[in-house]
Amino acid sequence: MLAMNGGQPVINRPAPALVRWGDPERKQLSEMINQPALFYWKGPQTTLLIERFQKHYPLKYVMPCSSGTAAIHIAIAAAGIGPGDEVITSPITDMGTVIGILYQQGVPVFADLEPHRYNLDVEDVRRKITPRTKAILAVHLAGNPCDLTALKKLADEHKLVLIEDCAQAWGAMHRGKPIGTIGHIGCYSLNDFKHIGCGDGGVVASSDERFGPLLQKFGDKAYDRVTGTRMPEFLAPNYRMSEPQSAVAAVQMTRMEDIAEKRFRLGRLLTREIEGIRGIHPHHAEQKDRCSYWFYMFRLDLRVMSCSRNGWVQAARAEGASFGEGYIAAPLYKYPIFQNQNFFAGRWPIKELGLTKMDYRQVSCPQTEAILENCVTTPINQAMDEDWIKGVAGVIRKVSNHFGKEK
Ligand SMILES: Cc1ncc(COP(=O)(O)O)c(C=O)c1O
Repeated sequence: MLAMNGGQPVINRPAPALVRWGDPERKQLSEMINQPALFYWKGPQTTLLIERFQKHYPLKYVMPCSSGTAAIHIAIAAAGIGPGDEVITSPITDMGTVIGILYQQGVPVFADLEPHRYNLDVEDVRRKITPRTKAILAVHLAGNPCDLTALKKLADEHKLVLIEDCAQAWGAMHRGKPIGTIGHIGCYSLNDFKHIGCGDGGVVASSDERFGPLLQKFGDKAYDRVTGTRMPEFLAPNYRMSEPQSAVAAVQMTRMEDIAEKRFRLGRLLTREIEGIRGIHPHHAEQKDRCSYWFYMFRLDLRVMSCSRNGWVQAARAEGASFGEGYIAAPLYKYPIFQNQNFFAGRWPIKELGLTKMDYRQVSCPQTEAILENCVTTPINQAMDEDWIKGVAGVIRKVSNHFGKEK
């Protein structure tokens, strides 16, 4: 009997508590506070962060910055995206993915997603390429690598810049290579909710000689710290990292690999445990990749269940684990900002100037909309163990069997 109807819950203990920082961060912060300056450029903490980042991501130019949104904005600017240029990206993501495109007066073009990996459908990206397309911004949703091999090939064929949004994907690998190192520019977030964090922060990095040298300037008012000249040649915000954040982030980098590996193992276990349950489509990850599961998202086939998604989630929560009904409320193009073109004080200058014909009210990505209608999320984190995951799988099995319609 379901727990919500008076039965025994599957799980009888609280979720394992997640401890994210401790003595190593405390020690690093106390060293930092003895410094005479807390400025990022050549600062010991930021230098340490860059060194540790490069151990995992061997990229030549690395700019620590104030957020993942900032990292992406810097990447977009460095890639030369300008008024009317189109950037193809994912409609299931954080606003931070598209904010930089819009500020550079570019046009986010939303491509549809793969139904079970929730990442860009390469064929739909291909269909969305126009003479105005300048870049593909690939979001590795929930730590699951996009098909970077295919996206890179497509980008090269059409001379597009491939930017990777790795905000949710620390430690993820595509065919053995760290994500963020396959495209031309990689962008990472260190906000408080990510695998590793420092309150707020980000990193943008590249080995490409066209873009790499611009990253520092686009994050620092177009001041050139390398030569020490202050003769700005273009418009750039102040997105600098600061030493206190770098101190925490540098220590967090040392935890990153273990966190990613643990989440990978637990996520893979959950998939194995729930594969074959009628009405459940697990979170698909490619065998040859490493998905670092920022969260786990599966889909319900409500045609074979006698409940709504809300009914399923309520029943599952009563069994003792955490489940979220859906992910974001709607695909990005359905947000009021896009529907009303409310980008700059109610106006969209590039549309007024005839540089784009985009009308987000006409956009439709059927797979994306279907995903958001029947997906359910459940957390995965490094504090959990195999027993816990088997418990979560037990909940999914019990609730799905309970609501399963006769064949
Ligand atoms: C996929 C994705 N891209 C970009 C961002 C923006 O990162 P930040 O919050 O550090 O600005 C986030 C943050 O939630 C994200 O999940």
